[in-house]
Amino acid sequence: METAAVILAAGLGKRMKSRRPKVLHRVAGRSLVEHVLAAVEEAGIEKRIVVIGHRGEEVKAQLGSRCTYVLQEKQLGTGHAVMQAREAVGQAGTVLVLCGDTPLIRGDTLKELLECHLREGAAVTLLTALLEDPGGYGRIIRDTRGRIVAIAEEADASPEQRAIKEVNGGFYCFSAPSLWAALGSLTPDNRQGEFYLTDVVNLAVKQGLKVASVQPQEAEEILGVNDRIQLAKVAALWRKRINRAFMEGGVTFIDPEATYVDVTVEIGPDTIVYPGTFLEGATVIGSGCTVGPHTTIRDSRVGDNCHIDRSVIISSEVGDNCHIGPFAYLRPGTVLEEGVKIGDFVEIKATRVGKGSKILHLSYIGDAQVGREVNIGAGTITCNFDGQSKWPTIIEDGAFIGSNTNLVAPVRVGAGAMVGAGSTITEDVPPDALAIARERQINLEGRAKEKREKWARERKKEK
Ligand code: UD1
Ligand code: CA
Repeated sequence: METAAVILAAGLGKRMKSRRPKVLHRVAGRSLVEHVLAAVEEAGIEKRIVVIGHRGEEVKAQLGSRCTYVLQEKQLGTGHAVMQAREAVGQAGTVLVLCGDTPLIRGDTLKELLECHLREGAAVTLLTALLEDPGGYGRIIRDTRGRIVAIAEEADASPEQRAIKEVNGGFYCFSAPSLWAALGSLTPDNRQGEFYLTDVVNLAVKQGLKVASVQPQEAEEILGVNDRIQLAKVAALWRKRINRAFMEGGVTFIDPEATYVDVTVEIGPDTIVYPGTFLEGATVIGSGCTVGPHTTIRDSRVGDNCHIDRSVIISSEVGDNCHIGPFAYLRPGTVLEEGVKIGDFVEIKATRVGKGSKILHLSYIGDAQVGREVNIGAGTITCNFDGQSKWPTIIEDGAFIGSNTNLVAPVRVGAGAMVGAGSTITEDVPPDALAIARERQINLEGRAKEKREKWARERKKEK
């Protein structure tokens, strides 16, 4: 029997006080709804429907073709939201409903929920959990024999009901025919004036249909995000999950609570990550590296045995055995081949640096090609922008660029050439040539001493 998953993501998320739809707020490198969608995909459910509404175009733009969409024009409640998906669900016999704001749910738990639902032949199966602080969730009311008799929403619950710690996780399996029948008879006669999906459960109980329940391995899986405090809380829990998996895989975290790694990142064994480090997006770090402290690496590949200290690396590639930092900034399009050294206060953009080359201090190298075994002295600048266009600089293998050189692009320094310190190079330098492009020095013999003696005489007169 086919299963369809319906993810509710139309709500405004008032309590976030945000211009962005709630489900697009991010945790561990994915939006809340992407986490839910990923769990649905992991559970192997192919028919995936997302109910959109508030700023739905933005949600659509982010999830793309991973699911289909139905529009809930007015957000009249979770039950009303599911109703909008009826046509899209089509003939599927089992409907899994999920909230788009619960990013800790696991694929395995959804599988378990489905399996239990089918095994029990239930009309509805709920995912419930015991929470120390159940505030804000629907409470699960059971009779003396432990059977579920109702879900009471916080707004409508009595003080006794509010004391109950078992809550509705917001994940349900329904048998389709009884779901559609019950949705048709929902009414919004509650404190919030909404069509509650939870009333479907209440109706099923009244009709004597079977209501089953499953609990996730860890209660945290059901935690929802309604405000920024809960957003920070689920982010911390994701961090724990991710960093624990890396540590189990042989990565050292000096302080895992202060190390921020997206769920999309890979790190090889024997790499040591120092605190204050952010590893984001499609980043892959090799093995045997040290990374951080206070380093950000986004959408970049780093080879094995690299040392990166207090630096920022965006959309770049770093080969094996490179040293970067402290305080380096690699901007998009930087490619460092093996064994390159980039030192303090060096910025590189859209540049390939060949094997074994060194740019150790205070330089800006942009739109350039740097060959192998090149040494670029302190304070070298590629003047790549003339106010209108960007121009390339080429520095061939084995060249030596003296400190404080300006390379006014477009320009080429040939293989094995040298550039004298303080030069402003505006024309190509042939291979093996020495270029010096600065004022000649003059030495005025004895002039310094004369000056000092003159100043001394003037001081005497003043007294
Ligand atoms: C809901 C449940 C509550 C459960 C909790 C778990 C109901 C009535 N209550 O409460 O029992 O403990 O989730 O997290 O279902 N949405 C729509 N359209 C709407 C309203 C909501 O798509 O008209 C979406 C929201 O975008 C959100 C999800 O449904 O992703 C849940 O809505 P929310 O308002 O957060 O429900 P809760 O009050 O948390
Ligand atoms: Ca919620």
